[in-house]
Amino acid sequence: MRTRLSVLAVASLWLIMIAPTQAAGGNVAAGKAKAAVCAGCHGVDGNGGADPLWPKLAGQNADYIAKQLADFKTGKRKDPIMAGMVANLSKTDMQNIGAYYASLKIKPGAARDAQLAKLGEKIYRGGNAKMGVSACMSCHGPSGHGIPPHFPKVSGQQAAYNNKQLLAFKAGHRDNDGDIMTRIAFRMSEQEIKAVSEYMSGLH
Ligand code: HEC
Ligand code: HEC
Repeated sequence: MRTRLSVLAVASLWLIMIAPTQAAGGNVAAGKAKAAVCAGCHGVDGNGGADPLWPKLAGQNADYIAKQLADFKTGKRKDPIMAGMVANLSKTDMQNIGAYYASLKIKPGAARDAQLAKLGEKIYRGGNAKMGVSACMSCHGPSGHGIPPHFPKVSGQQAAYNNKQLLAFKAGHRDNDGDIMTRIAFRMSEQEIKAVSEYMSGLH
């Protein structure tokens, strides 16, 4: 009886431990169905649309996407367009949508201004010690693919979109980041923000 009980205890502990991972897994097919309405701006293949301020979602970390959708819904991250788009999504929908976009392939971009990208590369890879800016690659990875679940992919993203996000972090308009990016962007100049956004767009 005693052994049986402890086997049960171990089994239920194991279930508790794996439950969050399973939930974070998400269902790609269900996510694809829910994402049909998103294609107009984020692209049928998740690679964005006509406006460079509409971010690419293809290849982004599933958990990061689910978190952003939840933040748009609670208003922790403010955007008038996205607030309306997420109003009827459940937590499960958000996880499924995250899994769907994570399964798509991002089309790599290319930096258009080589000189600007060079300054961006310096900041991305080495930070700016004088200003206390950490190297971006320590959290977003040497190739910008991010580190799941918390650190998003930034490589291949539209430069205009990343530029807008960094300026929003700097001004505190976007502050759903646990104070990490707001502190970093606060210490960056607008020129450095532009440069690193240009560099990340061509990184892959
Ligand atoms: C009318 C255009 C439009 C539609 C439709 C739309 N979005 Fe967006 N989405 C945007 C814009 C613009 C942003 C950037 C907001 C900002 O600047 O902070 C965004 C941002 C996002 C982000 C954050 C990306 C990141 O890298 O942080 C996610 C995730 C997202 N949208 C998912 C969706 C999903 C899922 C749907 C469908 C249910 C959807 N969007 C429909 C325009 C749209
Ligand atoms: C200590 C870890 C850390 C460092 C260092 C860091 N980031 Fe981030 N970054 C994050 C986290 C965490 C988020 C996501 C916040 C959230 O959940 O909304 C983020 C988000 C971003 C985003 C928004 C992505 C999107 O899709 O909307 C951009 C752009 C970005 N970081 C660029 C940079 C740049 C450029 C640097 C270097 C100057 C940098 N980061 C350094 C942790 C970091």
